[in-house]
Amino acid sequence: MTLSTTPEAAAAAERFAAAARQRPTQIAHIILRTRDRLQELADYYSVLLDAKPVNVGPNNIFLTFDDEHHRVGIFQFPNVAERLHNAPGLDHFAFTLPSVTALFARYEKVKAAGITPFAPINHGVTTSMYFYDPDGNRVELQADNFDDTQAALEFVESVDPSSIGVLYDPQEVLARLKSGVSEQQIIEEMKSSFGPTTFEVIELVSAPWTDPRRRD
Ligand SMILES: [Fe+2]
Repeated sequence: MTLSTTPEAAAAAERFAAAARQRPTQIAHIILRTRDRLQELADYYSVLLDAKPVNVGPNNIFLTFDDEHHRVGIFQFPNVAERLHNAPGLDHFAFTLPSVTALFARYEKVKAAGITPFAPINHGVTTSMYFYDPDGNRVELQADNFDDTQAALEFVESVDPSSIGVLYDPQEVLARLKSGVSEQQIIEEMKSSFGPTTFEVIELVSAPWTDPRRRD
């Protein structure tokens, strides 16, 4: 016995076949869980990302900084455990600034609010800064060193895969940008100074976070 197909069902089958080839379009949001730092974390991400709260509950705060209804959220649960040093799982998440100048302007702004990166890393393909939020989650701000996705991909595929980057001095780069050195000049220097990972980078990225509140 053959199944009879209506024209509507045939059209729906085509739409479903096309839809099944679609991939996710973006990362929608990051939700963090905390034991008792709900407001502290919300304040931190408000400054770091220039985000604003869009929904504030007694134990949850959602923030956005762009056209997404919520990009970052914080859930507070009283039964959340102490962070284990070197626990497996998410290492960090990253947000892209529209340009290298925008990255350093943000650096200057958040620094004035007391937020400084623990690891400024030149990844070659990106200029990056890594921060610890008040709960020890790692968050990266980055700017692409390539305008063109294909050129960026070729760079990533061509460099030493064992290198995760080299350190740079963000204060020095900021000062140079502010003195009039072109963004393109800074980017070229970032690309050409990318090389084997140094010991300091490995130490910084593998170091366990210590909660400043811990007394032991
Ligand atoms: Fe990263």
